[in-house]
Amino acid sequence: MKRACLAVFASGSGSNYQAIVEACKDGRIDADVVLLVCDKPGAKVLERAKIFGTESFAFNPKDYASREEFETVIADMLDERGVDYVCLAGYMRIVGKVLLERYAQRIVNIHPSLLPSFKGAHAIQDAVDYGVKIFGVTTHFVDETLDGGRIIDQGAVVYEGSDIEELTNLIHNIEHKLYVKTINKLINNKY
Ligand code: GAR
Repeated sequence: MKRACLAVFASGSGSNYQAIVEACKDGRIDADVVLLVCDKPGAKVLERAKIFGTESFAFNPKDYASREEFETVIADMLDERGVDYVCLAGYMRIVGKVLLERYAQRIVNIHPSLLPSFKGAHAIQDAVDYGVKIFGVTTHFVDETLDGGRIIDQGAVVYEGSDIEELTNLIHNIEHKLYVKTINKLINNKY
């Protein structure tokens, strides 16, 4: 049977991209990452993609007339490479109807909070500011709303300290394991 093909979309550092690729390479995920899509030319994730030998497509949304236009280019690339699932990993952009229609129920996201609380780009800081003691991570199917869609997996950690860096590291560690679990569910149709 053909190994599943994944595309990862990211905008920043790419630690989740790396966790997914490493899991594919060492057999914890029975799939290959065939494309990295990045909407921030110069982002660190592109260096990681070079190191791990993943083809990458970096684009500047401002070079396109509309979201539909760049999503059509991306969707064609995904089709050409036989991508089965798209994993958003710190892709700080709403997914539009072109991708959602072509990859219906095949786009997932990871977010550093126990959704539906603390959506958005500053989830960890927002939760700290709110006085949260139980932090977490959520993977979910992607819909047209910010960090919205049906939840697949969640992981939690109790943290009562005040070191945001320590907390962020704890959350990232959960993310890297949770995404592997979720991708395995997807490729084995067990969600
Ligand atoms: C991760 O914490 C991910 O959950 C978050 O961006 C970070 C990317 O880190 N995503 C969101 O906030 C989505 N709303 P990484 O670039 O090191 O993988």
